[in-house]
Amino acid sequence: MVPELENATVRIQRPERVAGIIRSLREQGASKLQVISDFDMTLSRFGCSGGRCPTSHNILNDSRVISEDGRKKLKDLLDYYYPIETDPNRTLEEKRPLMVEWWSRVHELLTQQNIRKGDIAQIVRESGVMLRDGFKELFDQLHKYSVPLFIFSAGIGDILEEIIRQANVFHSNISVVSNYMDFDESGVLTRFKGPLIHTYNKNNSVLQGTECFQQLSTRTSIILLGDSMGDLTMADGVPSVESILKIGFLNDKVEEQRGKYLDAYDIVLERDETLDVANGILRYIL
Ligand code: TMP
Ligand code: MG
Repeated sequence: MVPELENATVRIQRPERVAGIIRSLREQGASKLQVISDFDMTLSRFGCSGGRCPTSHNILNDSRVISEDGRKKLKDLLDYYYPIETDPNRTLEEKRPLMVEWWSRVHELLTQQNIRKGDIAQIVRESGVMLRDGFKELFDQLHKYSVPLFIFSAGIGDILEEIIRQANVFHSNISVVSNYMDFDESGVLTRFKGPLIHTYNKNNSVLQGTECFQQLSTRTSIILLGDSMGDLTMADGVPSVESILKIGFLNDKVEEQRGKYLDAYDIVLERDETLDVANGILRYIL
């Protein structure tokens, strides 16, 4: 059916169930399908050139437009909160208020840095960020078959849009819900527009009233792509889901998190920097 499912990175707890979902996605066809995807570490890579690939926040936090003191404070926040975000021994209820704290402190610091709208393209160009291998096929296929790609991100909307634009794949079928910057008349960052989206509130609560929420409710077959346990609720706003296939990238703390990911995601991709599996499934469905 889908040869890529035999790849060494693929783990599936219930293969018959997965085969059933994929068959049903094919039967429903392109007109019923939408792809709901996280951005950072899902569409973008986890590792690149031997190190970590930057998230949309890191691209800005580590850029030359941030003062040395600001960069240090942002790095300290990352070192403190990222282990909490990925701690397998804490519940989502414990993590949620701490994530609000992290994002709020970062956004507060960023608004003190005189960041200019006009700097963003250059910051992204210099960042070394990479989309996962196979991104062009994914974006182009979805566009070709008019399948909506809804990107739901706790990163920074202005940055991730620029990454996609620079990769020449920002097609008309893409909509994004994320944290967007607000600039004053002279183009300087003054605040972030609400509601704040962090790793563990990617659900209805921040989608209500958005334009794409309406638009996406008619597409009842879903492929969901994520890398965090928080990404599992991204499709909760779609009222009558017929079939949903959840594909999870397990990037970090692989051995510790394997069991939990296998229970939650239909397909788990371990240390897989490509979109080959998603592309293989789409090739079969479309
Ligand atoms: P997402 O991939 O679920 O949209 O979440 C965004 C990621 O960004 C999440 O893994 C935490 C990370 N992050 C940073 O790397 N730096 C930051 O300053 C913040 C607030 C988040
Ligand atoms: Mg992510």
